[in-house]
Amino acid sequence: MNKLDPKNLPRHLAVIMDGNGRWAKQRMLRRIVGHQKGVETVRVIVEECSRLGIGYLTLFAFSAENWLRPKTEVKALMALLKQYIRGETVRMMQNDIRFNVIGNRQDLPEDVNAEIENAIRKTSGNRGMLLTLALSYGSRQEMVAAARTLARDAAAGKIDPEEIDENAFSGSLFTAGIPDPDLLIRTSGEMRISNFLLWQLAYTELYFTDVNWPDFDRNELARAFRDYQSRERRFGKTSEQLGQDQP
Ligand code: IPE
Ligand code: IPE
Ligand code: MG
Repeated sequence: MNKLDPKNLPRHLAVIMDGNGRWAKQRMLRRIVGHQKGVETVRVIVEECSRLGIGYLTLFAFSAENWLRPKTEVKALMALLKQYIRGETVRMMQNDIRFNVIGNRQDLPEDVNAEIENAIRKTSGNRGMLLTLALSYGSRQEMVAAARTLARDAAAGKIDPEEIDENAFSGSLFTAGIPDPDLLIRTSGEMRISNFLLWQLAYTELYFTDVNWPDFDRNELARAFRDYQSRERRFGKTSEQLGQDQP
């Protein structure tokens, strides 16, 4: 197999971590055991991305739609989340990782929010990888909120509607200041976006694997990166144009 080119890794990797439930079911275990195992994968992948020099890692951990799951599962997920953030802050400090959250933070339980606040504050001076967890996140909701903010500013006379361009819109999203993902990985064989970063993924390379998230490891990550390195990112241009300096 081709070796990884360390100079051509995604600057921003986004992951839809899917398949925890099925991983557990296949083993006659409870779904929450799958989520617990999934957290271990998160630790491994975060550390590996940081080691490889990935600038931005965004993980879809809980969608705005996941609130519709059984109450017991939601409760268990929130407890796991709290435990993860609390336990990982030390490791984030060791690895110079800055912690960030996108999504409707106000929907999360107060104790989870307190851990988030604490981790963001403690790691705010770090200069390595930016680790973003998408929590109670929905991309359509994010875009609607951005439109509302811009409309409000326009109505108040703070901005001219004619000035609203792609930059202004991007800047009104949760992901303001973060470059768009270069690569999106979704595990467990599902080939859909499920309301994740719809605007931001416009030119992202998509990678789908049948591996369930709890089984995803360093080797699987390297496989995804090798696949990414075989892609030609044309951004609307022709293949010939990419080899030339002139447009
Ligand atoms: C992903 O695993 C984790 C979350 C959505 C929180 P799932 O829980 O969706 O696992 P499957 O899709 O049921 O296998
Ligand atoms: C997407 O997975 C959300 C996360 C990984 C957090 P889901 O399992 O909720 O997605 P659907 O419902 O199968 O599309
Ligand atoms: Mg799922």
